[in-house]
Amino acid sequence: MINTLPAIDVRRVQKSRLAATDLHNLKFGHVFTDHMFVMDYADGAWQQPQIMPYGDLEMSPATLVLHYAQTIFEGMKAYRNGKDGVALFRPQANIARMTRSAQRMCMPPVPEDLFLDGLKALVALDSAWLPDGKDGALYIRPFMYASDEYIGVKASMGYRFIILMSPVRGYYQEPLRVRLEMKYSRAFPGGTGEVKCGGNYAGGLYPSKVGQDAGYHQNLWTDAMEHKYIEESGTMNVFFMIDGVLTTPSLDGTILAGITRDSILTLAREHGLKAEERKVTVEEVVHGIRNGRVTAAFGAGTAATIAPIKVIGFNGEDLELPALEADSEVHHLGRMLDEVRRGVVADMHGWVVKVH
Ligand code: COI
Repeated sequence: MINTLPAIDVRRVQKSRLAATDLHNLKFGHVFTDHMFVMDYADGAWQQPQIMPYGDLEMSPATLVLHYAQTIFEGMKAYRNGKDGVALFRPQANIARMTRSAQRMCMPPVPEDLFLDGLKALVALDSAWLPDGKDGALYIRPFMYASDEYIGVKASMGYRFIILMSPVRGYYQEPLRVRLEMKYSRAFPGGTGEVKCGGNYAGGLYPSKVGQDAGYHQNLWTDAMEHKYIEESGTMNVFFMIDGVLTTPSLDGTILAGITRDSILTLAREHGLKAEERKVTVEEVVHGIRNGRVTAAFGAGTAATIAPIKVIGFNGEDLELPALEADSEVHHLGRMLDEVRRGVVADMHGWVVKVH
């Protein structure tokens, strides 16, 4: 088949920063690889795709995104796969979600094949930045923002799409303490909770800080109407083991359709674990921890992968979950996911996209 995608212009760094970077001691999201992918949208069309040295952007103080937050992003990872390989995990799912986010935020979707091409080219170019070891990955952050120099409230005509990459290791170093948020909300029906736009995260910062000041890593968000149903945990989807059933809130328009969430549900069901997506009430989780019916809880997301929860704070009381045994279902699910991503077991779903 003839490849009709536009060739990407590549301008390489003169000197890599890699040798001066300590890939063993990484704090999430502080270090970036040598290159980034950049493509502008102007005059109703995507322009020449480019890979260039990672660096600062110059922009007018009137740039639309700075005022009205017309911006969306994704989070995905590349892993070492097999002996010398590098692979992306489910990039098509992230690309499809970014298309949905673009539609909701009145932005032009990035052509999906060009997006994937850009991802592969960038990862191939900077794959030496992928940290060694079981927890090493390249966290990939595609994002798009409104680039018009204009402060009227309307959708921008111009956009910039960028992909940058950050070598990472674990996100959380310890099991989480989370707090049921019974006052503030992350999302509401008809809002933007199910897409990945910057404003969702900005709105969560203050309630998260209130929780952090009280000694919790994250909030456990509840629905905006009644604070009766559990929705997400911080920036992750959330799962509970309730009466031996892996249970997660169903996607109802306010919850982000996590790709890690979907992968866990798929693997759990294939391996004979009963898994349910349904409304999960605050009450059943609080009572379930007290009477032993809720035996585990964890957050799931690209950055954190599977993050066990050890304490759920509710109206000033700390409800403790039992420590997870090494052979617990939660750890088992984490290992299964990791083995697919790293090519240790066969990929039965076409989730792994090899870069080289
Ligand atoms: C991810 O897991 O990719 C997220 O979206 C979390 C991120 C905001 C750090």
